[in-house]
Amino acid sequence: LYIYFLGGIHLEKLVITGGTPLKGEVKISGAKNAAVAILPATLLINGVCTISNLPNISDVKIYCEILESLGAKISWNNPNEITIDTTNITSTDAPLDLTRKFRASYYIIGSLLGRKGSVKVGMPGGCKLGARPIDQHIKGFEALGASVTVGQGNICATAKKLTGTSIYMDITSVGATINIILASVLAEGTTIIDNAAKEPHIVDVANFLNTMGADIRGAGTDTIKINGVKELVGNATYSIVPDQIEAGTFMVAAVASKGDITLKNCITKHLESITAKIIEVGGIVEDFGDSIRVYCKKRPHKANIKTLPYPGFPTDMQSQMGVILSIAEGTSIINESIWESRFQYTEELNKMGAKITAQGKTAIFEGVNELNGAPVYASDLRAGAALIVAGIVAKGTTEIYNLEYIDRGYENIEEKFRNLGAKIIRVNDDEKEEYTC
Ligand code: EPU
Repeated sequence: LYIYFLGGIHLEKLVITGGTPLKGEVKISGAKNAAVAILPATLLINGVCTISNLPNISDVKIYCEILESLGAKISWNNPNEITIDTTNITSTDAPLDLTRKFRASYYIIGSLLGRKGSVKVGMPGGCKLGARPIDQHIKGFEALGASVTVGQGNICATAKKLTGTSIYMDITSVGATINIILASVLAEGTTIIDNAAKEPHIVDVANFLNTMGADIRGAGTDTIKINGVKELVGNATYSIVPDQIEAGTFMVAAVASKGDITLKNCITKHLESITAKIIEVGGIVEDFGDSIRVYCKKRPHKANIKTLPYPGFPTDMQSQMGVILSIAEGTSIINESIWESRFQYTEELNKMGAKITAQGKTAIFEGVNELNGAPVYASDLRAGAALIVAGIVAKGTTEIYNLEYIDRGYENIEEKFRNLGAKIIRVNDDEKEEYTC
């Protein structure tokens, strides 16, 4: 046991006074996981493009810095739209300090390999969800003709020429599917990806690239065919798909707080597995195609959940649904089949009075009548979102720390919740704090 001081360190926290049912309308932002793939995809364009409905989040800002360091010229037209000129890519060496900050920096590999035949990036970082191998990405690049070396803390890939081929993915991987698409768009001949992931953001990346001049077919199914083209010319505007996980987070908040929320700017088809669970726990859903109303007047019921690749229930909604199950009537089970360490939030919910036992990939939720406010720590992006919902539902005051995780993926989150009636403020706590560990 030792004690140390963080004198004068800038600590930010969210302070939430719980107990208000959320009511009103919220506009869903563009999808983070589409944005962090479409930004590096611009490296394939020998020209200019405009991206709108871009979520204003820290992952996007870091990506823009990385692109600028590689020679891209970026101008912000408004907080959710940028114009990028990638005519002159002057470097293939992505700054290690930036690429290490998040997972999606691995898309630089596919993009620069495709455009320049050479790339060096720092080992991708990101939320700590357990082992996050990239063997399927590397398998794809090598099949296309690249040579890849994984060194101390970085990855280098080179290719004199990339040639289309058939690639069977051993695991359904969002990142590997997109990365192989990126590497093969300018390759010679046709690439076929079998057992591809089918998430909406994969379709969005393919639609973006096709708008800029690529020839990609079948995105959204498990077989994607990419006919290599000579050049992407750009000269077009593309609007990013709405974020289905942000939408799901507000749907959960409506049910957990016994509120009534209408979500605008969403594609309800992408929300089907989430909607089904919301209805199973007792939420009432009115689906209008591009908007959705969710309300609930009573205590939620128990439900069992197994996370699966799309169109299954998304792992990125697991912790938010866990908040509903922690206060539901009866005992529920969640089986997490994608990430091995995604139950860290359950310890924080237990600090708030929940009764959750998590072991390995399974967690058992014995529903309690209420949660009580407590100081809690976000362990990853979605855990942070779940804790906000828990704070809104709990009796008393909740303080949430580690906001950098939440800011990576949710645009203006406290403002959006505040507009729905939540009592939530962000506090900069510059005072001397004492920690024990
Ligand atoms: N996997 C491998 N080898 C690989 C790639 C993946 O074994 O080469 C395994 C992973 O360990 C995992 C499974 O395959 O068990 C699925 O991983 P996937 O590659 O699909 O995940 P990812 O591309 O790294 C994206 C999202 C995650 C989301 C997952 C699953 C981005 C930037 N990240 O990660 O989003 O959880 O897909 O849907 O798109 C989040 O937004 O909070 C987040 C973590």
